Amino acid sequence: MLIFMAFAATLPDTAAVVSHSLPHIAYLPFIHLRGDERDSLSEDAVRGLRAEHKFLLPKYLYDKRGSELFEQITELPEYYLTRAEQEIIDRHAGDIIEKVQQDCWLLELGAGSGKKTRRLLQALEERRKNQTASSKRDDNNDNILYIPIDISEEFLRESCARLQAEFSAIPMQAVCADFLQGVEYVVAERNIAGSQAQLLVYFPGSTIGNLTRSEAATFFANLRRLLRKGDVLLLAADMSAGEIKSVETLHAAYNDAEGVTAAFNLNILHRLSGELSARIPLECYKHVAFYNESESRVELYLESMAYNTFEIGGARVAIAAGERIHTEYSHKFDTAMIETLASTTGFALETAWQDSRRYFSVYFFSATDAPSVEETL
Ligand code: TRP
Repeated sequence: MLIFMAFAATLPDTAAVVSHSLPHIAYLPFIHLRGDERDSLSEDAVRGLRAEHKFLLPKYLYDKRGSELFEQITELPEYYLTRAEQEIIDRHAGDIIEKVQQDCWLLELGAGSGKKTRRLLQALEERRKNQTASSKRDDNNDNILYIPIDISEEFLRESCARLQAEFSAIPMQAVCADFLQGVEYVVAERNIAGSQAQLLVYFPGSTIGNLTRSEAATFFANLRRLLRKGDVLLLAADMSAGEIKSVETLHAAYNDAEGVTAAFNLNILHRLSGELSARIPLECYKHVAFYNESESRVELYLESMAYNTFEIGGARVAIAAGERIHTEYSHKFDTAMIETLASTTGFALETAWQDSRRYFSVYFFSATDAPSVEETL
């Protein structure tokens, strides 16, 4: 908090402050809002592995190694999602930035390799340059800030430092937190600073699909509650299988030939073994992923190939041959589903863009008046 406030005070907030007074930022402002995760990892693992239908929470997939493996997934030939989103952002970054105010804080939910963000930051910088040139002024009254929010501290530090090195004129503030916790923090800081900046919340990677349908609705509603009317949301979502995209295409995206997705999924068990000193017989488990058409989602599990037992967090776990541990859902959407989700939670869909194959979409919403109680019922 202190770091951020000291830092925010250096931003050109009023016309009286000119941009060249911005000091070169040699350090990376970093805020950590998470407690020690070990306790909850142990509790959550015991709860999940002793449940009738076993599960492990997907957030535990993303330790340092998990985040690195996920980066590798995004480059696999079968995993079209990242490239499709990149194509959309590459093509429309200018359109996106044109739709936001000069005074704009770009919040990113989940730090990736930064390739997509880079395009958005470039577009922000270009706009700033063009305006400065055309008005023949060298003062920038805009107040740009880039704020990535992620739960993986090391990964967040590294990816944000890389971007900061590349965009030294754009102030950055990395926030290590759960998404909504991070947004809440930023919103509080905006209020404290008395800033008029508009928030552009970028939720990339079709991560919205990793929530259940009801969790996604709750997430939207909670996000809307934190935002001001006029703040905007840029949401990436993968399309359902149908006439345009086959079930096989989806299946391959989550069952790559090289086995990187399998390694990513299995990494959660490695993590439990390492961090909780659980002796899990890792060789007994295999990655399983398939598209459930009626639910319009890919379901991911770790399947036990033989009966085995192990101890974890002081509890004993037994798993039958063929029994599965659920690790993740990846819900797919059509535009009507997204529109309903948004309009019932206080967002208006302004624009929807798709990649050239129409496999993937990026949606631009603005926060409207919150829906009345009757509408949400
Ligand atoms: N957001 C990604 C998606 O739904 C996450 C993901 C990709 C994933 N591959 C995975 C999660 C494999 C677990 C296992 O596409």
